[in-house]
Amino acid sequence: MSNIIDGKEIANIKKNALIKEINSVKDKLKLVVIQVGNDPASDVYVRNKRKICEELGILFNHLKYESISEDDLITTIEKLNNEKEVTGILVQLPLPKNIDEKKVIEAISPLKDVDGLTKANVGNLFSFQDGLKPCTALGVIEILDCANTKIEGKNVVIVGRSRLVGLPLISLFLKRNATVTICHSKTENLKDITKKADILVVAIGKKEYIKEDYVKDGAVVIDVGINRENGKLYGDCDFENIKDKCSKITKVPGGVGPLTVIMLASNVVEAYKLQNR
Ligand code: GUN
Repeated sequence: MSNIIDGKEIANIKKNALIKEINSVKDKLKLVVIQVGNDPASDVYVRNKRKICEELGILFNHLKYESISEDDLITTIEKLNNEKEVTGILVQLPLPKNIDEKKVIEAISPLKDVDGLTKANVGNLFSFQDGLKPCTALGVIEILDCANTKIEGKNVVIVGRSRLVGLPLISLFLKRNATVTICHSKTENLKDITKKADILVVAIGKKEYIKEDYVKDGAVVIDVGINRENGKLYGDCDFENIKDKCSKITKVPGGVGPLTVIMLASNVVEAYKLQNR
């Protein structure tokens, strides 16, 4: 039997469940994605978000600005916060350097913050309370659950401390009673730590960085990396080099990626529930 976890198949199962849930909601759901500037990678991410929303019957509004002042951007967000028919708001990152990302994100109502990046939602996450959580981190847990991977009691090593992946995963794994270690660019002797992982999650944005000598025999490896080179996508793990050592492993593309957009749609449903309880 293959040890490759098929993210597309898992995303499809999740999608069918989500369609049922969306159909049972009495109001139409709507996601607004705000993009500033002309980052080609962001264009791809936004296109994928639109596609999944259209497939699931969630209204999608893309507000794209070549340039906008920080004040006008915040005013736009505040207006959307007050529009009853807007369920979720997402500001595509990165923003141009002249805009203070933190200030802009804080302008989003925590009840509509489908990225889970506001201080209120980060606080909720780390105090194990209800709130919206970052989609990619949720996708990692979903993949492990659907692949029947036991999390409780396991040694989980996360490589990468980003706000959207590594950081939220600390809390999500702790909640599931794992023993969690987080590593980053300043970690010394990285290999010695990753080699102890039963579950290794890698989100560092370095093409095929993780090789065989970083991985324990029988480990479950989740590769969150998306590195583009000459139009081709590469993960953070050297898949061919490590695959035979792993009991389970995700591929790039076709691993975590398909789950991320599904979890975004799921977050729109969660946002609706939070606003209507
Ligand atoms: N840029 C790349 N991934 C993401 C994401 O998940 N959310 C936002 N807001 N920006 C991103």
